[in-house]
This record gives sequence, structure tokens and C-alpha cells, in this order.
Amino acid sequence: METEQRYLTIALTKGRLASKTMSILEQTGITCEEMKNPDSRKLIFTNEELKLRFFLAKGPDVPTYVEYGAADIGVVGRDTILEEQRKLYEVLDLGFGKCTMCVCGPESARKYLNGQQLIRVATKYPRIAKDYFYNQKNQTVEIIKLNGSIELAPIVGLSEVIVDIVETGSTLRENGLVVLEEICPLSARVVVNQVSMRMENERITKILNDLNQVILK
Ligand code: PRP
Repeated sequence: METEQRYLTIALTKGRLASKTMSILEQTGITCEEMKNPDSRKLIFTNEELKLRFFLAKGPDVPTYVEYGAADIGVVGRDTILEEQRKLYEVLDLGFGKCTMCVCGPESARKYLNGQQLIRVATKYPRIAKDYFYNQKNQTVEIIKLNGSIELAPIVGLSEVIVDIVETGSTLRENGLVVLEEICPLSARVVVNQVSMRMENERITKILNDLNQVILK
């Protein structure tokens, strides 16, 4: 007798990444009509036929759900993966949500990046900033954690520079700041729970292969 298939759970990052992910999934034949209602406050959605569940979470929580196995698969930015340092497999670059993690500030702050100065660095990404300054540049800095509008920090004198994501560069331009150094490229990634990868290998591999086909098109 065939045992009933369990639900595979997919955690999506709320917002733009979720809608882009759903449109790529749709091209692989995975749909979720319930999720398309913009007025809905529902957090979890099911595709009964394919035995799939989807839920929306804040970016930094997606790796947490995946590490603990509350989600088998997650879609999240590489910035969040690097910052959260969770135990999971990063298996696929979806190629959208492209941007760069950078050190930014006013042009006049470039002189502080020579490795000698104890400067203040404001960021939403303290781990990434610390790793970059301490391990790659060998520069001791004070990291100040903020939760958004990071570009404000050097303007109002909270820090000399910031470590933040640059996509189009317009936030920097409109605030008189520039990219001083590039840290690493970023984009949306698929992550998988380590146990699920073994236990549900066939189903997960099929989803990943189908996604890969769509991306390569
Ligand atoms: C992100 C990032 C920058 C901006 C970069 O902020 O922190 O501020 O986008 O994009 P751009 O180069 O295209 O201008 P987000 O909009 O996520 O809001 P936040 O300030 O609340 O983090």
C-alpha cells in the first residue's frame, strides 16, 4: 500500500522576492491561486494536488524556519543567508533580486578605509560588516546595528560609513553618498533543510531541476 505523501513546505520572503518566486514556480507548473489575493491576511497557503504548502515570512526568519525543518525549502536573499549563518544547504541561484553589498559613505570618508582608523560602521548586517572589516581588511571598527534607512547614519553623523545593499544606486545618489568598496554580489537563493534534502530528495531535486530549466530559458 502506498503511504500518503507528506506536505513539502516552502518559505518565501514577503514582498518582491515572493511574487517573483511565485511567477517562476508557476512556469514550472507549481501554482498557488490562494496566494494571489492581495487583500488576504492569510499567512499559509496550500496546493492540495501537489501536496505543497507555502508561507510568507520576514527575510531573516526564512533561514530559521528552514534550519529547524519547519520549512523544507526557502527562498531568500544571499545577504540574509550570509548574515544569519544557519545550518542549511544553499542550492540554487535564482538570478533575480541582484544587488551588491557595499561599503558606502560620502566621498570624504574614503580616507578612513585604509585599515588604520577606528571608524563607526552603521548597518543592518553586523555579521557581514564585521567579517569584512575584521577578517578581510584587518581593520578594527565599531559596528552600529540599525534596522533600516541606513543611508541616514553618515548624513546625521552616527557613523563614518555604512555597509548596505546597493541595487540601482538611487538611494545613495539622492543622499549624496557613493559606493566606496564592494563586498560581494547578492541575489535570491533557494535554501533547503539538511534532513529534508535526504528524506525528500526526489521531490526536492525535481523542483530544483524544474526551476533551473526556467532560469536557463
Ligand atoms: C534597501 C537598501 C538601500 C536601498 C538600495 O533598502 O538598504 O537603502 O534598498 O536600493 P537602491 O540602490 O535601488 O536605491 P530597503 O528599500 O529595503 O529599505 P530599508 O531602508 O528599510 O532597509
